[in-house]
Formats: sequence, structure tokens, C-alpha cells
Amino acid sequence: MTNQLKTINTYRPNQLYNADTFEILPCLKDNSIDLIICDGPYGVTDNNWDKVGGIQEFNLNLIKIFSEKLRVGGALYLFGKPDCIDFINYRPFLKLQSKIVWYQPSRLAQGRRNYTNNYDIICYFIKGDKPKTYNLDDIRVSQLVELEHRLRCERVPSVKHGQYGKTKFNNQGKNPGDVWGDIKQLTYKSKELVNRKALNTIQKPECLMERLVKASSNEGDLVLDPFAGVGTVPVVCKRLERNFIGIEQNSDFVKIAQQRINTV
Ligand SMILES: C[S@@+](CC[C@H](N)C(=O)[O-])C[C@H]1O[C@@H](n2cnc3c(N)ncnc32)[C@H](O)[C@@H]1O
Repeated sequence: MTNQLKTINTYRPNQLYNADTFEILPCLKDNSIDLIICDGPYGVTDNNWDKVGGIQEFNLNLIKIFSEKLRVGGALYLFGKPDCIDFINYRPFLKLQSKIVWYQPSRLAQGRRNYTNNYDIICYFIKGDKPKTYNLDDIRVSQLVELEHRLRCERVPSVKHGQYGKTKFNNQGKNPGDVWGDIKQLTYKSKELVNRKALNTIQKPECLMERLVKASSNEGDLVLDPFAGVGTVPVVCKRLERNFIGIEQNSDFVKIAQQRINTV
């Protein structure tokens, strides 16, 4: 461990650390990280790693630590359930830009006493007033469904010649907005699923992490994944030529993650 910590102080990118994230995070240089993707405990399952007491306090503690490690303008995406940042004061540390709803209509609607929860939240924070990177053109999504309606709107004279003329239909696609229903959670049949145990609580789809990495970092930037699981974020970073630091305490997951990274 001591050697590992020394390494982080002198900063070697593209490493996966098999360790407790709370031991490693203090050793990372302040103001050095461009993007943090935090897909850690949600505080809802029986997995030991998911039992954190109050999830809001747990997340506030993370937000404080991350605010020191991020560069000004850097971004944090924090995954959780709808109440994951309720009633905590994150404002002295980071600015909340959006709460993205990751909508999963395919989730079994098994609730009998309440409406089944069909979405996760991805809280998008930045350090400072404005993001240093937001590559909208790299994450545009198809707007075919709205095409006819948009074109009809554009023909209206007040739009054609008015102040909203700039909001014209864009052939490259539209802003994905803050409700993402186009990215499905992995299923037993997904080719990228590493094994059945990783389904649901562990592995996220690469295209989800890809959207976050593309939007909020550039080639050569440093991305931190403090709860790396089976390595989805590091895999995406390597493919997109971003540097990464991944931390994961489960050695079996680290082995799988390393194999995935090596095959990129
Ligand atoms: C939701 S999973 C991350 C999945 C990952 N995004 C992927 O696609 O593979 C959360 C992970 O955090 C790890 N974890 C939880 N607490 C940790 C801690 N204190 N230090 C390091 N890893 C931790 C768990 O072992 C688990 O693999």
C-alpha cells in the first residue's frame, strides 16, 4: 500500500488501485482532476459495500473531498437514487448544474404499495461558476421523432425571422436533455456483461459512461473513478484517450477490470 500511495503522489495515470477509496483519495493532488464519475454505494441493497448508514451524509462527505481534488470548472457526476442528495448542503463545495434522470422502463414493475422506481439520478456538479468543458456536439442524440414538428415550427414566420431563429433544427442531433431513456441498463443477454453477478448493482453500460466522459472531458484529461467496479469508466477512458485513476476494493472486480482494460 505504501508504494501505491507514493505512486499516486507522484501521479502515474492509467492505474487501477485495489484499495479502499477513502485511503487513496486524500493522497491525490488537489486541483488535479478534470472529471469524477462516482458510481458508488446507493445505500439500498444488502451488499456489504452498499451499507453506508445515511446515504446523504455519505455523499456530502464525498462531495467535500471531490471539491478539493477537482480543477476549477471540473465536473462530478454522482450516481444515486432520487433522494441521494436531499437535505444536504453541498452548495459551499460544488454547484449543481443538473439532475439527470436515467430512465429504465424495462425494470420489472413489481411494486404493489407504491409506484415502482424506474430511474436513477445522476447529479451533475461543477466546481466554480461554469464548466470548463461541455462538448455538446460530441453527445448529440437523434431528433428524428421531432423532425416533422420542428420543421413545421421553423416555417412559422416569427421563428424564421424572430429572435428564436437560432434554435433551428440541427442535423447533428439535439442536446440529450436531462431525462435519458435512450440508454438501457445491461441485461443477461448484453455482450459487454462480464458475468451474471455484475448485473444490476455493479456493471453500468459503456455507452452511459461514454456520454459523461465525452461531454465533460477532452483527450489527455484526467478522470477519476473512485468506485470502479469492473472497470467500465477506465475502459471508456482508454478508448477515448483520457487518462484515468480507478479505485476498487474488491480484488475479483479489479482483475476483471484489468482484463477489460487490456483488451481495449
Ligand atoms: C455500483 S458499483 C460500480 C460499478 C462500475 N461503475 C462499473 O460499471 O463496473 C460500486 C463499486 O464500489 C465498490 N466500493 C464500495 N465501497 C468502496 C470503497 N470504500 N472503496 C473502494 N471501492 C468501493 C464496490 O465494491 C462496487 O464494486
